[in-house]
Amino acid sequence: MRKICVIGTGYVGLVTGTCFADLGNQVTCLDIAPDKIEKLQRGEMPIYEPGLEELVARNVAGKRLTFTTSYPDAVPGAEFIFIAVGTPSGVDGEADLQYVRMAAESVADVMTNYTIIINKSTVPVGTGDSVAEILRERGKQPGVDFDVVSNPEFLREGSAMFDFQMPDRVVLGSTNRAAAEKVAQLYLPLRCSIMITDLRTAEMIKYASNAFLATRISFINEIATICEKLGADVKEVAAGMGMDKRIGRAFLDAGVGYGGSCFPKDVKALTWMAEINGCHPQMLRAVMEINRDQRRQAVTKLRDLLGTLRGKTIAVWGVAFKPNTDDVRESPALDIVHILQTEGAHIRAYDPVAVENARKISHGIQFCDSAYTAAENADAVVLVTEWNEFKNLDFERVAATMKNKILIDGRNIYDAERMQAFGFTYRGVGRGYGSS
Ligand code: UGA
Repeated sequence: MRKICVIGTGYVGLVTGTCFADLGNQVTCLDIAPDKIEKLQRGEMPIYEPGLEELVARNVAGKRLTFTTSYPDAVPGAEFIFIAVGTPSGVDGEADLQYVRMAAESVADVMTNYTIIINKSTVPVGTGDSVAEILRERGKQPGVDFDVVSNPEFLREGSAMFDFQMPDRVVLGSTNRAAAEKVAQLYLPLRCSIMITDLRTAEMIKYASNAFLATRISFINEIATICEKLGADVKEVAAGMGMDKRIGRAFLDAGVGYGGSCFPKDVKALTWMAEINGCHPQMLRAVMEINRDQRRQAVTKLRDLLGTLRGKTIAVWGVAFKPNTDDVRESPALDIVHILQTEGAHIRAYDPVAVENARKISHGIQFCDSAYTAAENADAVVLVTEWNEFKNLDFERVAATMKNKILIDGRNIYDAERMQAFGFTYRGVGRGYGSS
């Protein structure tokens, strides 16, 4: 059993803290937002993450997991302190490090024993060194030593628990290998590959991984656009490509593009880091541009079919940036809604869990209580988030209540011929003649 403090109770911090508690460690999760901590103390989750509530309850009951807003309560005596606070985009696309700095300063103020500070937040290359500098300069107790380790997270929202418990790899970077090896011990029960490298390389592995995955998505989306013109089906193309072991099938689903709190922000931040260091990140720029275009293409298809969007009612299925999350940050759905509204369309939307969050950052959307009610009297439906419940709807019922039977499938989840049989004019993404 190790004594661990995790700073930040977003989905990374909360999942990390809870999973470490479940491995038998004594974990305190700290957040400066009292409302979040009060919620957690009442057993309520501040985010929607499948399986999390049950695991939190089990570990709180087992007295391995506690929540606090107090640094003096959580830091002294902790052997490991994970920093898992937000790093939003700054004005120029750079990562805004104010929360990481604040966490490091607060730790420095109350640290009383040798501690390993582990950076889990996605931070620009070189931030580990800055955290070490803060701790060195601000540490109040003379002679209290520390080490800084970078341990980037590779948790997908919606399957974060699984990703923590069954990781492809754990990456650890430090200027002191012995410190990284101590952190590695925490992960040993997971029996996964552990890579130990230097601090800056570990930080770069995170950005390069997210940027590469985003590149695969933009690549297949560009291929989809070409498929539409040439009459090929991008789903089959991706399947055929994916059979090559050197390529693999993952992250080759064409659609309305990537969203969320990670890919858009991280590709932007990596581009910024490259540019201020005199590099020309042409591929990263293209990745972002293609991603923007994918949203517009969905609207173009609607405009082509409806003539004008002014006064038209468009049903939007799904507002979360992907299924199994209530997160709407950089959601393709909200971008599409925004363009549609600008062109004068009226929006009726439905999402199984993300409506509350969508309400906070959108306006003028009429939220409905099901996919069916959203589609009633609509001129078209746009499927943006591929929630399972959208896959097997009663399409006769949907078609019967729509004004115009137009279905834009932004995630290629439907069979074109089947949808045409229900009377829909169907358009997927990159799906050949007649269905694209
Ligand atoms: C991503 C990474 O997958 C995690 O490894 C990483 O830890 C995390 O960012 C992070 O940096 O915190 P996440 O943003 O939760 O995780 O979601 P993904 O499942 O990667 O999906 C991102 C976006 O890409 C979604 O909008 C999804 O719909 C889209 N996507 C994904 C596609 O358009 N096509 C695909 O083939 C795959």
